[in-house]
Amino acid sequence: MNILIIGGGGFIGQKLARSLVARGQLRGQKIESLTLADIHMPASIPANFDIKTVTCDIADPQSVADTIGSEVDVIYLLAAIVSAHAEDDFFAGMSINMMGTLNVLERARSLNTCPTVVFTSSIAVFGGEVPDPILDHTALMPQSSYGTQKAIGELLVNDYSRKGFIDGRGFRLPTISVRPGAPNRAASSFMSSILREPLNGQPANCPVSKDFAHYYLSPRKCVENLILGAEIPGQDFGSSRCMMMPGRKTTIREMIDAMTSVVGPEAEELITWNAQPDVQKIVGGWRSDFEPTKALKLGMSADTSFVENIRYYIEDDQPTG
Ligand SMILES: NC(=O)c1ccc[n+]([C@@H]2O[C@H](COP(=O)([O-])OP(=O)(O)OC[C@H]3O[C@@H](n4cnc5c(N)ncnc54)[C@H](O)[C@@H]3O)[C@@H](O)[C@H]2O)c1
Repeated sequence: MNILIIGGGGFIGQKLARSLVARGQLRGQKIESLTLADIHMPASIPANFDIKTVTCDIADPQSVADTIGSEVDVIYLLAAIVSAHAEDDFFAGMSINMMGTLNVLERARSLNTCPTVVFTSSIAVFGGEVPDPILDHTALMPQSSYGTQKAIGELLVNDYSRKGFIDGRGFRLPTISVRPGAPNRAASSFMSSILREPLNGQPANCPVSKDFAHYYLSPRKCVENLILGAEIPGQDFGSSRCMMMPGRKTTIREMIDAMTSVVGPEAEELITWNAQPDVQKIVGGWRSDFEPTKALKLGMSADTSFVENIRYYIEDDQPTG
């Protein structure tokens, strides 16, 4: 089993790689090699099998061809630029999120080996006039360039699979929280920083009100679901290869209460509440009522409460010392 993670230097890519290394197998087959590819050289991970780290720019077809060889069985396509970045720099979003996805799928098609391709889409593909709750077959109506680029990626994954060029599967990730490290350019960045920073004894600002509700999943559960996503037999997907990944609708109040229940009330006192209209404008258009029926049937799952998200951050990611 030879696995390639494109975007393997990123937050989810690194966690996925660590989890695959710990398992040592995928689909019951021993992992022979794992390649982490990213625009910046990814950090390597110790493993008792062959691990490679390479640079690759998915916007460049030659770079993609140099990275994806015919030996690859499973490609995780995680590389992307995030929501606010794709909104600020339209051309970069189109080149990386849309053309980059096409470049990877085209390279996969040219191999004639029908590799499995796991594509990370987003709940940002939904919005506008569609009614709640959002079901597996609700129309995609993105309200951002990022969501539009992900929606196009989903259509391509479906069509390349229908043609038998790849065995594709796409999962619309909820917002992953608590994300470790520094804030990023995603409009959702505060949905982790209002917990992560106080948990680390640092101040953080919340730009929305306490009753703002959103759809979340912990990094640990996301990685479990992505591994299962590669293991589900292709024929079990039916005619639509893309679906919601399960998450939980949670308000800011409930997230903070979960943090308080784990570490006590002092952490909440580090949060300030200065409204940010630019962030509110983007996240206000996002949806939070989802029924991920298909993914649940296929065996995926969500966290049982936001307390798990807090505990996993402390166990897996909180800096020590
Ligand atoms: N984290 C979330 O809350 C969330 C939610 C929905 C969807 N997603 C999707 O999941 C995937 C992984 O997200 P993440 O949180 O790990 O993001 P991330 O930003 O940490 O990782 C993405 C990686 O892609 C790389 N990349 C960017 N441009 C590239 C290019 N041209 N060529 C090659 N690599 C490039 C980046 O360097 C980065 O390491 C992305 O596709 C993202 O859109 C994430």
